Amino acid sequence: MHNDIKRVLFSEKDIENIVNSIAKQIEKDYNGKDFIMIGLLKGSVAFMVDLMKNIDLDFSIDFIVASSYGSGTQSTGRVNLQKDVSQSVEGKDILIVEDIIDSGNTLDFITKYLEAKKAKSVRICTLFDKPDRRQVDISVNYTGAVIPDEFIVGYGLDYNEKYRNLPYVGILKPSVYS
Ligand code: IMP
Ligand code: MG
Repeated sequence: MHNDIKRVLFSEKDIENIVNSIAKQIEKDYNGKDFIMIGLLKGSVAFMVDLMKNIDLDFSIDFIVASSYGSGTQSTGRVNLQKDVSQSVEGKDILIVEDIIDSGNTLDFITKYLEAKKAKSVRICTLFDKPDRRQVDISVNYTGAVIPDEFIVGYGLDYNEKYRNLPYVGILKPSVYS
């Protein structure tokens, strides 16, 4: 285990089971739909790659880069769109793939943005959710696991761009960021 990790919350095997179960639900719900899976970079990469390989349907993928975070562990509430999708979303069923929902500001902004671009439907799939920290009310359609209010890293999730490569998800030692 990495020295900056206080405790492992989800092992590689735990994550695999969670991802497989979400993939099965999506496969059932999106059968016959013309859909685009849109990952929010960079946090969702590991999840998105594993998720899409487990969905036996025809769909396209795309990515958006948005950020509500500076370099710390608190949301700023402001969301910047740094990279847009590379195809039209008009008339398409959109499935947003996110690593973790915290304040909800990022997904609130992205959902409204895609709806304004005339997507047929916009649903949210997140690997982790910290509902205790929500500032805006958003509806989440697929959730891998609900977690307590702790800062976690690994499997795509970072602190200052570090730890994304860990194959497990763990709580970061507060001494690393305080
Ligand atoms: P929100 O807009 O406050 O919901 O922020 C969501 C984004 O904050 C996620 O996509 C992550 O990039 C980041 N984030 C929130 N909580 C954590 C965490 O515990 N670890 C790593 N990143 C986090
Ligand atoms: Mg993120």
